[in-house]
Amino acid sequence: MVIFLNYKSTEKKIKEMLIKNKSATTLQDVVDVLYESFEKYSWVGIYLVKGDVLVLGPWKGEQVTEHTKISIGKGVCGSAARSGKTEVVNDVSKDNRYLSCFRSTRSEIVIPITKNSRVIGEIDIDSDIPAAFNKTDTKFLEKIADMLCQHI
Ligand code: SME
Repeated sequence: MVIFLNYKSTEKKIKEMLIKNKSATTLQDVVDVLYESFEKYSWVGIYLVKGDVLVLGPWKGEQVTEHTKISIGKGVCGSAARSGKTEVVNDVSKDNRYLSCFRSTRSEIVIPITKNSRVIGEIDIDSDIPAAFNKTDTKFLEKIADMLCQHI
């Protein structure tokens, strides 16, 4: 129950940040709130589409990733950018598309940010816990991606 309240309250918090404080709220602020609200989110980043490449924008986590540019179609991130569909990887060691960033990562979710039917960016979250992302995470993060499309 407490866990579900966290999704609701985080969604409300981000909505208020983006609506009431529109001009002052940055993508970094949203990344920070996501990272701080869920312990299982070990690394949170936003990639932006520039031509046929994903370029890392704001991120929060213990370490920087070497994958600051990813071609559309490559890795889990590039696959989600190409299909426009959320990717959930329950065990990164079993997905041969996976581009490794952190030794501790066990699962990953990538949610495209779409505007006028085009993918303009994506939210990428790694977890140190296997199969960390359930249907509630997917629905919640798809709502956040929907809110963000107006801010990119
Ligand atoms: N694992 C991603 C690369 C990005 S890092 O997780 C930050 C992928 O396979 O596309």
